[in-house]
Parts: sequence; structure tokens; C-alpha cells
Amino acid sequence: MATTRIPHPQTADSRTALPTPGRGARDEAPEAGMTKRIEITGLNAYYGAHRAVEDIAMTIEPRTVTAFIGPSGCGKSTFIRTLNRMHELVPGARVEGSVKLDGQNLYSPEVDPVAVRRTVGMVFQRANPFPTMSIYENVAAGLRLNGTKKKGDLDAIVERSLRGANLWNEVKDRLNKPGSGLSGGQQQRLCIARAIAVEPQVLLMDEPCSALDPISTLAIEDLIALLKERYTIVIVTHNMQQAARVSDRTAFFNLAGPGQPGRLVEIGDTEKIFSAPEVEATADYIAGRFG
Ligand SMILES: Nc1ncnc2c1ncn2[C@@H]1O[C@H](COP(=O)(O)OP(=O)(O)OP(=O)(O)O)[C@@H](O)[C@H]1O
Ligand SMILES: [Mg+2]
Repeated sequence: MATTRIPHPQTADSRTALPTPGRGARDEAPEAGMTKRIEITGLNAYYGAHRAVEDIAMTIEPRTVTAFIGPSGCGKSTFIRTLNRMHELVPGARVEGSVKLDGQNLYSPEVDPVAVRRTVGMVFQRANPFPTMSIYENVAAGLRLNGTKKKGDLDAIVERSLRGANLWNEVKDRLNKPGSGLSGGQQQRLCIARAIAVEPQVLLMDEPCSALDPISTLAIEDLIALLKERYTIVIVTHNMQQAARVSDRTAFFNLAGPGQPGRLVEIGDTEKIFSAPEVEATADYIAGRFG
């Protein structure tokens, strides 16, 4: 079956379903127009017959950080993985509903899920650098897959991505050493560098700081504040202070009861959600009264 590629600066294919900067923009700061609005409607996600999240509708604004909060098991990870078509990689898992990136439904039959995952990058809870690869190769791997071969091009993008992840100064003299030799916080920044090397338009982060010490956590939070100028960012966190510090908007998810699917309870400006939420359960969760 022919698939429509989601256009990407690194792909030579110019058939486009979504507007992106041209190839020439690659070496400049990505433009404001590159960040995307995500509109989710009627979204249900299943593992086999089990519905893990139910009927989610929300809009995620460009150039903002949106935090997903809620008790364990309410479907935050499941939902965030539907935003780059990773949920369906679990055998038996499926998604209903639509996720539109600047109007283009990521679940349209003609859209290539691999291209979606390039456009919507993901950083996981545990830093997962490729252990046998050097720091340089960890960042360059995705670029090579996308067809960037020239050493000069790769060098430039690797440096820019490591600078973007605020890691360059710490690793520039040991780019050929294994990525696994870095500290936990450095490894997480390496994973962020790897994610931004292929110039995604959206960056999803599922509890990126949960395995990190407070100093590394603050480094990642500072980085998120910088990255939001260029990317639409979604972060799952169990840390209420972190949600309050880094996010512009907060979405609270909850379960109606054991075995029930997770639902979006409310979404709003972080300041409002933390000071005067509409729903009592939100206030209770934020105050630590459950979850
Ligand atoms: N691979 C899977 N197969 C089957 N069920 C799954 C799978 N992953 C998650 N689930 C179920 O889906 C529901 C939502 O899980 P999910 O991991 O999305 O929650 P979460 O909000 O991210 O929780 P946590 O805060 O603990 O990370 C849970 O009932 C969970 O058991
Ligand atoms: Mg989770």
C-alpha cells in the first residue's frame, strides 16, 4: 500500500501532507511555524478488549509545555504513546479517534507511522542510549537512517543537537566514548539530543526525570524551558512541583474506579489548575490526598 510520508527536512521526498521548513532550514534555528498544534478528538486506546483510556478530547497548543498528571494506571503513558503511533506497536493494541497535527490526522490510512514517529519524537522514563554506541553515534543513528551520510553534515547536526540538549560542553572531548559511560542525567540529555537530531516538531516525554537526582532534574527542566521555544512539548510527571515549574498547561487524568478506563478530568492553564481547578478530584490529587 502506498503511504503518504509526513514531510521532514531530512527526507528527500517532497510529497507533503504537512507543511515543514525546507531542507535549507536544517542548519538554522527551526522557525516558529515548525511547532504544531495537536487536536485530539474521541480518542480511545485499547489493549486487546481492555479499554485503557476513554473518549479523550483536548487541544495541545504549539510552543507550550503541557503536563499530564494523574494517579498510576490512569493511562497517561498509554495516551501519550497514541500521539506518535507507538501505542499500536503493542501486540493486540489499537486506537480509535483522531489525532490531528496542524489539521493532518496521524491515523489516516495513507499516513506512514514511521514518519509520524520521526515528526513526533519521544523521550522515555529511563534514559535508553544505545549502550554499545558512542555518544556521537547515539545522536547520529537516526540521521543515518534518514539518509544523512556526509560526515560534515552529520558532525554539524550532532553538535547542534548536543548543544540543544545542553550537553555539548560536557561531552565534546569524548564523543567517541560509549553513551553508557555518562551519568544518568547526561544520558537523559543524550536521549533528548538523539530525539531532536531528526528535527521533530513535537517532543513527548514520559516521566523523563523520574530516575534522576534533583540537580539533573533541574537541568532537564531548564532544557525543557529552552526547547519549548521550538517544539510543542508534552511531559508526563508524578512530580507536582515539576508540573507547576515547567508547564504552561496541565491535564489531569483519573480513573472512575478500579478496572475502569482512564479519562481526562480537566485541562487548563497550569496556574489555574493548581490554584482553582474546576473539579474537586483535581484539587485532591494535587494536594496529595490520593494517588
Ligand atoms: N502493554 C500493556 N498491555 C496490557 N495492558 C497495559 C499495557 N500497558 C498498560 N496497560 C494497562 O493500561 C492501563 C493504563 O496504564 P498506563 O501505563 O498508561 O498508566 P499510567 O497513567 O502511565 O501509569 P503510571 O503513572 O504508573 O506510569 C493500566 O490498567 C495498565 O495495566
Ligand atoms: Mg506511565
